[in-house]
Amino acid sequence: MSRQIEVRVDGRALRVPAGISVAAAIARAGVAVFQRSVGGEPRGPLCGMGICFECRVVIDGRRDVRSCMAVCSEGMEIEVARA
Ligand code: FES
Repeated sequence: MSRQIEVRVDGRALRVPAGISVAAAIARAGVAVFQRSVGGEPRGPLCGMGICFECRVVIDGRRDVRSCMAVCSEGMEIEVARA
């Protein structure tokens, strides 16, 4: 069994396997909409390899981090801007 770590997604504690991407952790939290376009359209991960920028979130206070390119670490605070 893989080692588990704890992260927080919009303040909600979530245990995930160590080494998982932030995008995968957010999906495991049941979130599909990661942000909204200027026109209000829902956006979420598209490419999964750092090209489309549709998966940007706030990680430990840093804005516009591509969640598909970030690896979860113990205690990480992840904020998803869906409003
Ligand atoms: S899913 Fe495309 S940059 Fe993250």
